[in-house]
Amino acid sequence: MSPSLAASLAGSHPSPPSRGLPALAAIIAELASNQPLEERVARSLESLRVVLGVPECAIWLHSRDGLVRSWGAGDPIITATQVHARLAHPEPVQDSVLVVGIGSGDGQAGALTMRLTHELNDEESLLVTAVANLLGPELAHAAKNRQLEDEVEARTAEINRERIFTEKIIDSLPLGLYVIDREYRIQAWNRKRETGMQGVSREEAIGRTIFEILHRQPPEMLRREFDDVFTTGRIQEYQMESLATGELRTYRITKIPMRLGDSAVTHVITIGEDVTDWKEAQQRFAQAEKLAAIGQLAAGVMHEINNPLATIAACAESLGFKLEDVKKAGSAIPTDANEYLQIIDNEVSRCKQIVDGLLDFSRPKQALKERVSPNDVIERTLLLLKHHVRFKRLTVITELDADLARVPQANNEQLVQVFMALLLNAMDAVGDRGQITIRTRRGTTPDEGVIAEVIDQGHGIARSELSKIFEPFYTTKAPGRGTGLGLSICYGIIQEHGGRIEVDSALGQGSTFRVLLPTVERR
Ligand SMILES: Nc1ncnc2c1ncn2[C@@H]1O[C@H](COP(=O)(O)OP(=O)(O)O)[C@@H](O)[C@H]1O
Ligand SMILES: [Mg+2]
Repeated sequence: MSPSLAASLAGSHPSPPSRGLPALAAIIAELASNQPLEERVARSLESLRVVLGVPECAIWLHSRDGLVRSWGAGDPIITATQVHARLAHPEPVQDSVLVVGIGSGDGQAGALTMRLTHELNDEESLLVTAVANLLGPELAHAAKNRQLEDEVEARTAEINRERIFTEKIIDSLPLGLYVIDREYRIQAWNRKRETGMQGVSREEAIGRTIFEILHRQPPEMLRREFDDVFTTGRIQEYQMESLATGELRTYRITKIPMRLGDSAVTHVITIGEDVTDWKEAQQRFAQAEKLAAIGQLAAGVMHEINNPLATIAACAESLGFKLEDVKKAGSAIPTDANEYLQIIDNEVSRCKQIVDGLLDFSRPKQALKERVSPNDVIERTLLLLKHHVRFKRLTVITELDADLARVPQANNEQLVQVFMALLLNAMDAVGDRGQITIRTRRGTTPDEGVIAEVIDQGHGIARSELSKIFEPFYTTKAPGRGTGLGLSICYGIIQEHGGRIEVDSALGQGSTFRVLLPTVERR
């Protein structure tokens, strides 16, 4: 019996025993019925309340939020704080509030509370104690259930948080990602796969087989690719091209085996990554590297040529002196001998100039960079070409945009060299009496603020050859007419200027070479 109850018994006055027993019997019967717990407890409380004639009779249980009034008969007049305080410090009945702890095997399950209107007699006190004891195991059981429910709820919330977290991770990846199980059913489908022209929503994809969702590849092929991973357990990687976004892009597809248990592959993760830019950069690197190698090679060759040239020049000179001696001695010399020597001399110095020029060009150096007007560069180039015999016969149309911005960090000489090479190629392509147009206009972005085009109506370039024309030593011209270095040098120079060179051409339809240069300072 709790001390408070004992206290409440002091000074109690007897009441007829007949009231207590039947009441207890009725309450036991109610508790033992096979109604749900809630109902059984509520009914017995109501009976107790009526028998004792009190306004309130309730049961409080310990929950996560503290003591909670779980079942009650009558208006709640007692507060949780009051109950709590009384449980912690059992005292004689005060404010006519009776609090009886309900114990169970392992501690206190809660409390039975009531607001008294009269002091309880012995019989009534025993009745209250008996009911409290009867309720003990029942409530302990209810408390356990509630605790279990709370735990399940908390665990579910945690699992949900973890699921959302993982989903957020795969959705934030700049890759398309999906996962399938052994039945080829889609088990995960990230945000990236929902977007784009061929995007499919997650709701639509999850639970379906890949054959219902992915139509770009024939089903047998898809199956084979996945079976490869399921059976070998090895990562498979390949590249594919796709027009899904409207333009041709390259994707790296990786299929990764996933094992839920220890051994067999249960799922396959597929990742699709757009590697178009990376691939282009890779190709540009390869090209730049090739050009650098060629530069070094050319420098070596030029040095080698310099020596025989010097020897030829020296021999020609000695021959000249010899002829002078012969002439002085009075002998006749062939009339054109001097002329030939002169030709040898001229040609050797021309070769030397070319060699020196190339050596100079191949030597790595920081070319002076200044603000350059592309229109001026073109005018200068045309001025230089004016004296060229074959060029004079062509019709050259210039359409230069007077509002063209300047290129802030450019080298005049190098740009002249570029347009010279492009114009000479155009001249070769159109043959005698053809037409060439050279045009400048403004670009759409500061990175490509200047666009200069050299357009000819010559023989054009076959599609299969287009990728080769910038390679060093690629030439279709007769030996002696072409070195195959013009365009590769142009490429290097324009690249060094932070620009780009493009070509549109079709066999028999002429060509357009387009140079794009930045109009912003580069670091
Ligand atoms: N405007 C053009 N029209 C047709 N073909 C061209 C044109 N420009 C370049 N080519 C092709 O590209 C090749 C490489 O050019 P280039 O590097 O300047 O070397 P080269 O002029 O010495 O052959 C040329 O041999 C030619 O086949
Ligand atoms: Mg050329």
